[in-house]
Amino acid sequence: TRKIIIDTDPGQDDAVAILLALASPELEVLGLTTVAGNVPLDLTHRNARIICEIAGRKDIPVHAGCDRPMCRPLVTAEYVHGKSGIDGIEIFEPETALGEAHAVDFIIETLRGQEPGDVTLVPIGPLTNIATAFERAPEIIPRVREIVLMGGAYFEVGNVTPAAEFNIYVDPEAAKLVFSSGVPLSVLPLDVTHRALTNREWVETMRSTGPVGRAVAGWTDFFERYDRSKYGSEGAPLHDPCAIAYLIRPDLFQGRHINVEIETAGEFTQGMTVADWWRVTGRKPNAMFLRDIDRDGFFDLLTERIGSL
Ligand code: BDR
Ligand code: CA
Repeated sequence: TRKIIIDTDPGQDDAVAILLALASPELEVLGLTTVAGNVPLDLTHRNARIICEIAGRKDIPVHAGCDRPMCRPLVTAEYVHGKSGIDGIEIFEPETALGEAHAVDFIIETLRGQEPGDVTLVPIGPLTNIATAFERAPEIIPRVREIVLMGGAYFEVGNVTPAAEFNIYVDPEAAKLVFSSGVPLSVLPLDVTHRALTNREWVETMRSTGPVGRAVAGWTDFFERYDRSKYGSEGAPLHDPCAIAYLIRPDLFQGRHINVEIETAGEFTQGMTVADWWRVTGRKPNAMFLRDIDRDGFFDLLTERIGSL
């Protein structure tokens, strides 16, 4: 099994990603660390605990982290995710207490406590917590096995600006730090996730599997509205579950090991992931940049795993 920390800002698609991880015996979830992103921090850590309780996993530690990006004001996305961040289900107050440690300290201490090369970080929100941990305790950087993140876009360009994807746009300075850290990186950009669209049949199958499946159907029903009105597409893009699926079934994805730089200064392109797909720069590759997904294989995996919870 692979030990992971999921750094998250739930988010309906974050919720499905967390459920997929909890349902997968290949992964050991050491904890969830939460960050401000889709909604403010006090909602993301509450939502993370709600999601664990829906999965029947009150034992998973949840730690709250940074409440704003490293050097910019926070930008949120209630227009996509609703006021709660996880609209689409009946929201309740979680019984589980929030972990005492700050998420950044939890990340640092976990990496110090585990064998070097044992822990994989899976950020599915802005990269503030991860970058802050690397800045504060650089000696943990070589101990990280890999970072598998959802963020960025290249051929599919942006969803929050014409050039940038939300997670990178919100905290580009943090993203820059992570992309230049030297840790092996795998990136699931919009190029992949916009091909991971739900369809009616899958949503109804999920709904019929039980209470967890009903929550997933409620979330994707809500989430779909935005994409339908914005892009005219049927179905909700399951961005963040792609990162978890990549850990379990890398064979479902295709990409290239290339150089990816983060734009932090551009007048129109802040947060852009400048991906040297055609290897024209001679800059050193620093990321496995995924570009395609076996959609059917991905949704079969989700049905099999989450359906069993
Ligand atoms: C990313 O931004 C958030 O809205 C989603 O949860 C996902 O992590 C997609 O751009
Ligand atoms: Ca997210």
